[in-house]
Amino acid sequence: METEWQLKGRCISMSKMAGQKTVLQEYDRYISGLFAPEDDALRSAREEMLRASMPEINVSASEGKLLHLLARAIGAERILEIGTLGGYSTIWLARALPPQGKLISLEIDARYAEIARRNLKSADLAKKVQVRIGPALESLSQLEAENEGPFDLVFIDADKDGYVNYLRKAMPLLREGGLVLGDNTLPDAVLDSAAESGTKRYNAEVSARPDLISILVPVLRSRGIDGLLISIKQTPAPKA
Ligand code: SAH
Ligand code: DHB
Ligand code: MG
Repeated sequence: METEWQLKGRCISMSKMAGQKTVLQEYDRYISGLFAPEDDALRSAREEMLRASMPEINVSASEGKLLHLLARAIGAERILEIGTLGGYSTIWLARALPPQGKLISLEIDARYAEIARRNLKSADLAKKVQVRIGPALESLSQLEAENEGPFDLVFIDADKDGYVNYLRKAMPLLREGGLVLGDNTLPDAVLDSAAESGTKRYNAEVSARPDLISILVPVLRSRGIDGLLISIKQTPAPKA
């Protein structure tokens, strides 16, 4: 008879083949069942996104809870999100804010932004959240010009080729001790040493920056394993 461990090993190697997602999905269902149950606002945000035929690329409930918890842990009062989609991750993050807190979310697609605003209104978060339409690099320049910083937390989750530039532009807007969170930073493709990607460039840049202290944490997604790159901004030690 197979022991539990043998069974687990077999399932995981099977997951390399066809039956793939199911095992990981079950782990994720276990985690979110206990720690990240969705309420009506989160469920209806996902339903609205499906109704609008938006891509299902929002964070999972468990990753949403992780974002929420990290924001709480640092007492974030001002959050910057790059890549809104339907506002699903936005809801998890904005719910971590105190009453006077504020979240600004950047989205290039006006139709998506409109749906996100509706979902945020249904979640009773319209007062705390501003969705800005436009290419994120331009919006970041505007935020700088308007002196909207400093932020306590920046969540980067838009086009992967833009990540390095978003980071460079967002760093001056982030307070010391603030967090930078990079979504989708552990796709399968990072294991292919021959392949180049925006994600790999971002991971390399973050790992090399002396003003960030970082770790890439694997997270479970419906498609398999992905990751969240977590960084704290610090003042680099002066060179001797
Ligand atoms: N954070 C969301 C998912 C974001 S998906 C969640 O987890 O719920 C990525 C989003 O980034 C898409 O909505 C896409 O339209 C947006 N995007 C892509 N390129 C962009 C750009 N240059 N500027 C701003 N947003 C962009
Ligand atoms: C996908 C997932 C994401 O979280 C994202 O931001 C972009 C794409 C995906 O699964 O394809
Ligand atoms: Mg993402």
